[in-house]
Amino acid sequence: MEFIRVRKSGPLKGEVTIEGAKNTALPILAATILTKEETIITDIPPLKDIEIMLDVLRSLGADVERLDDKSVRIHVKEIKTHITPFELMNKMRASFLVMGPLLSRLGKAVNGLPGGCQIGERPIDLHLKGFRALGANIEERMDEISVDVDGKLKGGTIYLDFPSVGATENLMMAAVLAEGETVIENAAKEPEIVDLSNFLSKLGSKIRGAGTSTIVIEGVNELKGARHRVIPDRIEAATYMVAAAISKGDVLVKNVIASHIRPVIAKLKEMGVDIIEDPDEDEIRVRVTKELVGTNVRTLPYPGFPTDVQSQIMTLMTVAKGDSVVEETVFENRFMHVEELRKMHALIVTDGNEARIVGVPNLTGAMVKATDLRAGASLIIAGLVAEGNTDIYDTYHIYRGYHNVIEKFRALGADIELINK
Ligand code: EPZ
Repeated sequence: MEFIRVRKSGPLKGEVTIEGAKNTALPILAATILTKEETIITDIPPLKDIEIMLDVLRSLGADVERLDDKSVRIHVKEIKTHITPFELMNKMRASFLVMGPLLSRLGKAVNGLPGGCQIGERPIDLHLKGFRALGANIEERMDEISVDVDGKLKGGTIYLDFPSVGATENLMMAAVLAEGETVIENAAKEPEIVDLSNFLSKLGSKIRGAGTSTIVIEGVNELKGARHRVIPDRIEAATYMVAAAISKGDVLVKNVIASHIRPVIAKLKEMGVDIIEDPDEDEIRVRVTKELVGTNVRTLPYPGFPTDVQSQIMTLMTVAKGDSVVEETVFENRFMHVEELRKMHALIVTDGNEARIVGVPNLTGAMVKATDLRAGASLIIAGLVAEGNTDIYDTYHIYRGYHNVIEKFRALGADIELINK
């Protein structure tokens, strides 16, 4: 049985370089299905989820050549099958992002139903509503979804009841080869939407408005190849920034775009953290020179505070002076880390989607388990300031979102190791 052991560590010091964004790379890799020509994608994070997406592309007929551990050349000359293997779909729900491109290029796709997960039921009703608005027929079977269209998709207007990131991405990719104009209203505005739009434009798509609530796509007949570098992972960056803060360290975070994490920077500053941005170098220095105090956070779709940094900032609040409140408005069950933090003697009370935290002088090491990739990273952060050993189980969650997590934390001075018993 493997677990990550973290012991109380001194202030983290030094530099950490952030990888390309997992949640940007996944839709962009799916989008390579849209063109018959070669694409080269660089700065891809070497993570398990990426390997699964590459296996999905291979299963559909793509030639996938690894140029190095962070770059691939993909060529989908022809599509062998429109059916994504259930076992691959089951490994990673983001495989559902191949539906839009397959429907767009081939006019049909069959995918296993993306299961829910610990943080929520993760429905796909908005994806399906959008496909229908573009003229697709949907057949929901026991454990799979079949979508197809006679001829080509037809442009249409889609209102997203919630600015879903995945639905926005799937529908952008479905619309780029449709006949006529598609308008996506109440679209997600995350940086990954903008990066996907930039890649689709390089392929020859006609898209405007990505990053705003209304995205307009003029369908084209076919697309060409392109080369694209994935933007830095804003969530990985925020995670190391919080780790620097909780340890009262002084860390330079490299390869980060500050404008992608404005709410995180604002909240860390409210808690008393010094944040020094160097936009010319895409670097942010995080330093603590005074006692940290609690604050309040409400997670929201971008540009609000990201739900993927909720467990990390809550961990910081557990040892900040005074009270804090966290409201989780994006997912219905994203407080599973609370129980684990309580094992470490954090003072947290939850009521529905609201958590109240009272800061304590320090935490106590315990045996805990990662409940999702961000919660797992948060337990490493907690372990940095806990008396005794913090042993974190279900480490596979953490590896899904954080490349070389043990090496990166150790390089900053954390007392952290992987133990196999
Ligand atoms: C993406 O998931 C990210 N994953 C998530 O990151 C992230 O937490 C989430 O966006 C929100 O930012 C990837 O990009 C691979 P949503 P996604 O569709 O697209 C509801 C991580 O930590 N909804 O924006 O699945 C849904 O129930 C992961 O890396 C519907 O109701 O998120 C949820 O409450 C975790 N119907 C809300 O929208 C739908 O059809 C946000 O979901 C789709 C979504």
